[in-house]
Amino acid sequence: MASFDDLPSLQLDEAALSDLDLFLAGACWPQPRFIFAPPMQLRGGEPVLLRDANNVRLAVFAPQSEAPGGIAGDLTVIEPPRHTAFLSYRHAAEPFRAELGAGAVAVALAGFPTAELEAALRAAAPAPVLIVVIEPGPVDAFARVRAAELLAASLPKARVVVLPWVHGEADRRLERVLRNYGATRIVPAMGANYRPDIAAIVADAVRPPARQGFCVWFTGLPSSGKSTIADHLALRLRERGRRLTMLDGDVVRTHLSKGLGFSREDRDVNIRRIGWVAAEVVKHGGVAVVAAVSPFAASRDDARRFVGPNFVLIHVATPAGVCEQRDVKGFYQQARAGKITGFTGVDDPYEIPENAELTLPTSNRTADENSAVVLEFLATRGWIG
Ligand code: ADX
Repeated sequence: MASFDDLPSLQLDEAALSDLDLFLAGACWPQPRFIFAPPMQLRGGEPVLLRDANNVRLAVFAPQSEAPGGIAGDLTVIEPPRHTAFLSYRHAAEPFRAELGAGAVAVALAGFPTAELEAALRAAAPAPVLIVVIEPGPVDAFARVRAAELLAASLPKARVVVLPWVHGEADRRLERVLRNYGATRIVPAMGANYRPDIAAIVADAVRPPARQGFCVWFTGLPSSGKSTIADHLALRLRERGRRLTMLDGDVVRTHLSKGLGFSREDRDVNIRRIGWVAAEVVKHGGVAVVAAVSPFAASRDDARRFVGPNFVLIHVATPAGVCEQRDVKGFYQQARAGKITGFTGVDDPYEIPENAELTLPTSNRTADENSAVVLEFLATRGWIG
């Protein structure tokens, strides 16, 4: 294995990493080989070096045969995926099963354990209880693990296990994983009531809509009026006490994206960067207001994916002729004179969004009126009062 650095290498995405994790923990038994769907260009039968998101070398994968869901192959582990959190709740399936005892009842939780669930688990006594917390989920896993610990502590024979996301034919795979950890009966998550100590954790971890972060993303041709509406909106939101980060394409290009040009590739990098920053802001309960031409649907969709459900795309739909007439920065004139090439709306494409939450006309409405329309929309989501 001395030469694994000569092999083509591949960074695993979250799904493949979870699969690797489960496979190495023996949670996929009786699946004999690791199955994984490498990008097409690596399907040559030659071994590949698998890396995690930080480029740590995890294993060499030697493809053997086609399998449902990808290619099955042999693994030579270099360094198993690292867990920095919940170490005491990570277990290999087989020894855990032996320790847990026969006839265990299991539940897999993506949320919090309810009082109804507790009653169902208690009714299963004297069988041992397995509480599996699925790590990635819509709600902070740290809070969910603390709630699972409280539940386990109040049942006679209960253990907590933290597992990565089980994806792909989820129900069937999850059942197999739970059985490998010793479950003989699986109880579904149920109910909506929490006992007081768990309710306190839920209240702290689950932000009500009015305290959630969100991203308002304005897209449109140069000089369509994105920044003006975004500025008005930002003021109205700040007046309501929201913490806000403004990400304006022109401004971002003077620092975060300094040096990038206007090729399709550079624009995509710019938009993905803005999307990444917006996602961080939203994750921490802030508001991100973005004003960027963002002419390509694919990178706008990436930004939406980074941010998640609290993403609002707004098309500032000023007609091209009007934008050119306004020409706030004089760039249209320069583009027409051939001094700038690849200018959006002149000789570079703008893909009109088909999935915008709002489309704003600007010829018969002021920026303040448009920002009021946006505020109304935000109120329908409960994000502002
Ligand atoms: S994007 O395409 O990557 O989304 P962004 O919004 O960051 O663009 O920047 C666009 C701004 O850069 C425009 O408002 C305009 O002031 C300036 N600009 C300079 N050259 C171009 C060009 N070729 N195409 C579009 N905008 C340009």
